[in-house]
Amino acid sequence: MSFSSPLRCVITAGPTREPIDPVRYISNPSTGKMGYAIAQAAVDAGWTVDLVSGPTHLREPEECILYPVVTGEEMYHQVDALFDACDILIMTAAIVDFRPKSPLAHKEKKGDAQLNIEMEPVIDVLKTVSQRKKDQFLVGFAAETNDLENYAMRKLKEKNLDLIAANLIGSGSGFALDSNILTILGPDGFREKWPAASKESLGRDLVALVTRKMEEGRTLSGS
Ligand code: CTP
Repeated sequence: MSFSSPLRCVITAGPTREPIDPVRYISNPSTGKMGYAIAQAAVDAGWTVDLVSGPTHLREPEECILYPVVTGEEMYHQVDALFDACDILIMTAAIVDFRPKSPLAHKEKKGDAQLNIEMEPVIDVLKTVSQRKKDQFLVGFAAETNDLENYAMRKLKEKNLDLIAANLIGSGSGFALDSNILTILGPDGFREKWPAASKESLGRDLVALVTRKMEEGRTLSGS
């Protein structure tokens, strides 16, 4: 296993937006706080950070490079371009999974509006890039309303991840809050439940855990 020095990390954050027409879109309540907190912790740990962010009201850490994107397709192209040179990919972005098949070029007048919009799937960024994973350490997030660990484990496997951070939406965790409650799962049976904490604190703990896991991986592979 070989890694850059300093470690090079790509972090995605925030929501994406899929246009219906030039003034309307489909999105979700993600604020980007979790991803920006991890970016700050990663910078503080001395990593080089590329932050690929959907629209947020947050200021990025000064030392990272910000790649602003809007749609899932744009996020995919940006992550795809950065992936081969990175050591770590942490995907906190809440990517909208479906988009209008034919967004309109002009504002739809409400009297003429078609009330049924034909949708098509948006590419799965993590699943697509992880198919060409080499030594990269991949971390996904899963926000669920129920069956948290089952769904998170399924995503961990399907997306070829090294860790997944899962949270239940509601009751003190999830979108648009300053704190979160995370369950961290790994493919080797690793399982930790992290109690409610600020996103800044969780960001630091996650960066420390990734560092530890990468060191363990290096020791096991003898490099
Ligand atoms: N993700 C992605 N591309 C997508 C959707 C999600 O890369 N089109 C990433 C997210 O950034 C996250 C992980 O995959 O790290 C899980 O995202 P989540 O929205 O919880 O799950 P989905 O795979 O979209 O599945 P579902 O919506 O059915 O729960």
